[in-house]
Amino acid sequence: KFDYNKLIDNEAALQSRSIFWEPEIYQEELKQIFNRCWLFLGHDSQLPEAGDFLRTYMGEDDVIVVRGEDGEVRAFLNACSHRGNKVCHAEWGKTKAFTCSYHGWAYDNMGELAAVPLEESIYDNLDRSKLGLVPVARVQNYKGMIFGTFAEEGPDLVEYLGDMAYYLDVVLDASPEGMELIGTPYRVEIPGNWKLPVENAIGDGYHVAWAHAGAMRVVGTIGQGRSESVLGIGKDNTGFDDSGQLQIAIPPHTILSTLDGQSGYALYDNPGPCIEHLERVRPSVVERLGEVRGKQLLGSETHMGVFPNLQIIQGLNLLRVIHPKGPGAFEVATYSMADKNTPDEVKDIIVKHVGQTFGSAGILEGDDGDFTEAITHSPNGYATRQMKGWLGMAKGRTMDWDGPGEASPGIVNELCQREFYAQWQRTMLAESASDILPQAPIQKESVNG
Ligand code: FES
Ligand code: FE
Repeated sequence: KFDYNKLIDNEAALQSRSIFWEPEIYQEELKQIFNRCWLFLGHDSQLPEAGDFLRTYMGEDDVIVVRGEDGEVRAFLNACSHRGNKVCHAEWGKTKAFTCSYHGWAYDNMGELAAVPLEESIYDNLDRSKLGLVPVARVQNYKGMIFGTFAEEGPDLVEYLGDMAYYLDVVLDASPEGMELIGTPYRVEIPGNWKLPVENAIGDGYHVAWAHAGAMRVVGTIGQGRSESVLGIGKDNTGFDDSGQLQIAIPPHTILSTLDGQSGYALYDNPGPCIEHLERVRPSVVERLGEVRGKQLLGSETHMGVFPNLQIIQGLNLLRVIHPKGPGAFEVATYSMADKNTPDEVKDIIVKHVGQTFGSAGILEGDDGDFTEAITHSPNGYATRQMKGWLGMAKGRTMDWDGPGEASPGIVNELCQREFYAQWQRTMLAESASDILPQAPIQKESVNG
């Protein structure tokens, strides 16, 4: 019924509003996107020992990620092979077995069905080896980041990340020991469509000085004006000029960065110890990753969007995953992150700041939730439903850039958002998981006619 070629018009940079609320399109997203793309599951630092587990979602599928007795990390559907009850209700923990609370079937931490109550007396020839937890088809790890996909075929993780690894390494290789997620995530459920918080976080530099003006004034006052100079409050807010900021398409992924090496801390009320730590690690990062990543990217406010639903915001030191919960609702899980050599004092500052800004009651998260909800639910009205969304800003503006991808000047730009919807469309149209990776960024295609 829906023509995915028409729902997104890449040439005119228009999206049909139906992609935010149509239940049928949402069901198709679960199948085409969340059942085939590589999805972030967790980080090694959350599962250091055998038996450590956490729960997360792949689309709306409830998933257990667990390090087995043999040291390998696997992921399973959180559904009992008997009747489908959840076998794990805890958000994280350590266990030798997941025991179903309905009839007591118990699975070991490698997913095998280990024990069935009354097995001998009530079943004839029960083949326990065929009744283990259903595994996620492939689980792979990139520098501590654990991803999974339900697709048996299609690109491996490294191929899926492609040149995005160049940028991810700024976070994952900031210390030779790697990165870690700190503490437990903030989880908030918001009544909006999952795509809106994704494209907002990866590319909407336009809204910051306007939508968050009130919050920025509060934080800016605390931050002694640093946020104003960095984020353009009080200026003309065009961001296209010689600011040195940019957006980059590394399809299917995206980058937005201020490139100044420290503005990620612009909103911190106590950035001193963070900047000190940053400058302590910078020489070794320059040595290992070169000048572009060590001087321009490290410490900048850099938003990394890994398609479809992972955002790593360097500088603000947070990692977010957006889980869909129906066409009109999503859950955002927000984690604090830091390189493993970060002093405890700095980690405490980071966790506090992530809570103040993007935590459950964070002043920035709250602002964004309002727009997301309105954009998702206003098309309940039939006339409003006929409108289109427009993301034409800076289309066709390119610039030279020393890293991978196609760059466009300014963080106030809609390149990342256009790329996101272009990839959404490709994935919805792709016949198999082998066809989900794009050939070229749309920015380049449009420049080349
Ligand atoms: Fe799990 Fe019956 S549903 S043991
Ligand atoms: Fe925002």
